[in-house]
Amino acid sequence: MKPVGIFFGSTSGMTQKSALKIQQAFGKKMAEVFNLKTATVDDMKPFSNLIFGTSAWGIGEMQDEWEMTIDRLSTLDFSEKKVALFGLGDQKEYPESFVDGLGTLYCRFPEKSCVVGFWPVEGYDFYFSLADRDGQFVGLALDDHNQEDLSDERISKWVEQLKTEFI
Ligand SMILES: Cc1cc2nc3c(=O)[nH]c(=O)nc-3n(C[C@H](O)[C@H](O)[C@H](O)COP(=O)(O)O)c2cc1C
Repeated sequence: MKPVGIFFGSTSGMTQKSALKIQQAFGKKMAEVFNLKTATVDDMKPFSNLIFGTSAWGIGEMQDEWEMTIDRLSTLDFSEKKVALFGLGDQKEYPESFVDGLGTLYCRFPEKSCVVGFWPVEGYDFYFSLADRDGQFVGLALDDHNQEDLSDERISKWVEQLKTEFI
């Protein structure tokens, strides 16, 4: 498998923590982590395999850095790339918009045919999520407020799945 670039936006550090765990699951030699506070779309260019992570804010909002980055993704050529998404949220406080940042990231992603890493909605408790497409999340959903004990196992399973879906 070719190396993986993990790009995240994180306000209070929870998505960052998950990004580092995902990196660890691939092995540090295989995956590099970038914070969108300083990284740009140009840093994504060398990677055939990309992972994008965001938390959820407001009504269907991605984390701020993604709001500022998303439109620039159309300048990249995704024809030779695979992209997987993950999202942090809080299903107890926001059951009507659980991980909506993840859903919006997918909605606004310019090249959906290269998106891999869909994840079952079973095991979560919510009313509505923009990230739920026909019974599957459009990427890995993590809730470290209410289900932190499940996150490590979810990450390790998802990474094993990505190893078969990535280039
Ligand atoms: C003002 C506010 C709005 C939020 N809105 C949502 C939401 O709509 N859906 C959701 O699942 N989580 C929501 N959250 C929870 C955050 O997404 C969650 O705390 C996340 O882990 C933060 O990750 P970060 O520190 O990496 O930004 C919200 C949190 C705050 C403080």
